Amino acid sequence: MAKDTGTTTRVAADELLVATGLQKRFGTTYAVRGIDLRVKAGEVLGFLGPNGAGKSTSMRMVTGYLEPTAGTITLCGVNLLTHPIEAKRTFGYLPEGAPAYPEMTVEEFLAFVAAARGYSGSEARDRVEGVIERVHLQGVRRKSFETLSKGYKRRTGLAQALMHDPRILILDEPTDGLDPNQKHEVRELIRDLGKDRAVVLSTHILEEVEAVCTRAMVINHGSVVFDGTPAEMESKAPAHITKNRMDHVFRMLTTGDRATGHAKHAKGARR
Ligand SMILES: Nc1ncnc2c1ncn2[C@@H]1O[C@H](COP(=O)(O)OP(=O)(O)OP(=O)(O)O)[C@@H](O)[C@H]1O
Ligand SMILES: [Mg+2]
Repeated sequence: MAKDTGTTTRVAADELLVATGLQKRFGTTYAVRGIDLRVKAGEVLGFLGPNGAGKSTSMRMVTGYLEPTAGTITLCGVNLLTHPIEAKRTFGYLPEGAPAYPEMTVEEFLAFVAAARGYSGSEARDRVEGVIERVHLQGVRRKSFETLSKGYKRRTGLAQALMHDPRILILDEPTDGLDPNQKHEVRELIRDLGKDRAVVLSTHILEEVEAVCTRAMVINHGSVVFDGTPAEMESKAPAHITKNRMDHVFRMLTTGDRATGHAKHAKGARR
């Protein structure tokens, strides 16, 4: 059972996503050790970290797919743990991988998502057409999901996340598997969406962070090791490093002594 479910978290009016003291323990292992996330409208937060750092686990918790061991989650002012249905209307979520029904065509799947979001008749059709156009799925709309290439599966996942025009977008590796042209298009789309929404995206591509994110957060072994602008992150590289400076900083933050997992106690476990 999650602790703190009824706690009222102090949330500023422009903070669309607020998670405090987020923890997840699987058995005896802490995957997430007390993360605080505050994301405002107009912010695109790049969630970075090595494989197994706890990015997807954190995203699953803030979207209600996984119950936190501890912590509070507030989405557009709604407490996710006490008001899950209302809170889940506020965001679109692109999970890791590309879960969908394999035999459905792209348009059937999107119509199914529109219905699940409560749309019917011409409004449902308009919503489906809108996302097909926005994510450029016209060429594959009648193909079954299982026959799509990896990139188009990812784009279909992105389309379903946009169906209800949510104020918050949680995108787990949105450009994973996309070719350079599609990456460019999806980054432009995310930048555009991020102008008046709160976006959290995870990625392993650091140039993507510089291209689309207003903020970067690096997690390692379930704890935040950096939170600042991409420029601030890049400036942590020593002057003699002239190429791939972001990658260098990423390695500085997540390997060596800092990556040995010696933080013996999860942050919240000390409380
Ligand atoms: N259901 C689960 N049961 C047990 N352990 C899990 C479960 N889900 C995740 N973990 C563990 O939690 C840790 C964090 O995993 P997570 O998937 O959040 O990492 P990630 O940062 O998204 O990594 P990647 O970059 O590879 O996607 C890992 O050690 C993982 O093995
Ligand atoms: Mg992941």
